[in-house]
Amino acid sequence: MDLLRGLPGHPLHPPLTDAAIGIYTASTAFALLSVLGVSERNTATAWWLALVLGLVATVPTALTGLADWLRITRGTELWKTATAHLAAMASGTVFFLLAAVVGHGGYVDGEVTGGGLVLTLAGFGLLTLGGWLGGSIVFVHGMRVLKLVDEPFERAVTPAAHSEKRAASGGSGGHRR
Ligand code: HEM
Repeated sequence: MDLLRGLPGHPLHPPLTDAAIGIYTASTAFALLSVLGVSERNTATAWWLALVLGLVATVPTALTGLADWLRITRGTELWKTATAHLAAMASGTVFFLLAAVVGHGGYVDGEVTGGGLVLTLAGFGLLTLGGWLGGSIVFVHGMRVLKLVDEPFERAVTPAAHSEKRAASGGSGGHRR
């Protein structure tokens, strides 16, 4: 489980979230472009393929998030925010999955169906909400943030140079380091 968490100062979940959010955002943009008639068949194909890619990227993203979530003390304020984040991301994933299943026929025909579009937009709304809550976990509660402002450059960029136990003030907020 520790392998899934990454190194102190370099957690694995955040970079994976960039991939998942970027791919789902591209999928949503392609769906809208297709519906607007911009290179309709090509953008419909890109929409559906990006949905599937996003679902694949979600597997490691969710696993690394889960590994961090399991270290949070239950019932704390941080836990409430992280659990709301989990719920938003899990629901968003279900909507994207349904969009891929319901929209498969449209993909084969080179169009984004009404159902596929609505489910994609719902997934994107939940993804945005979940991203906001993810921001609260990190930038408000400070989870996994070392905040070593004066750390010398050489140490700041060296892998495994830090321990989260030694981290300066702030950021523990119910999180077992
Ligand atoms: C597609 C799925 C998910 C996406 C896109 C996502 C996105 C995010 C984002 C944007 C952040 C803020 C970090 C940053 O700004 O770089 C974050 C943090 C976090 N997420 Fe997620 N998340 C996902 C799934 C999950 C799941 C399923 C869990 C828990 C079971 C989870 C737990 C956490 C935790 C604990 C943090 C704060 C610490 C850390 O960075 O690991 N996430 N997530």
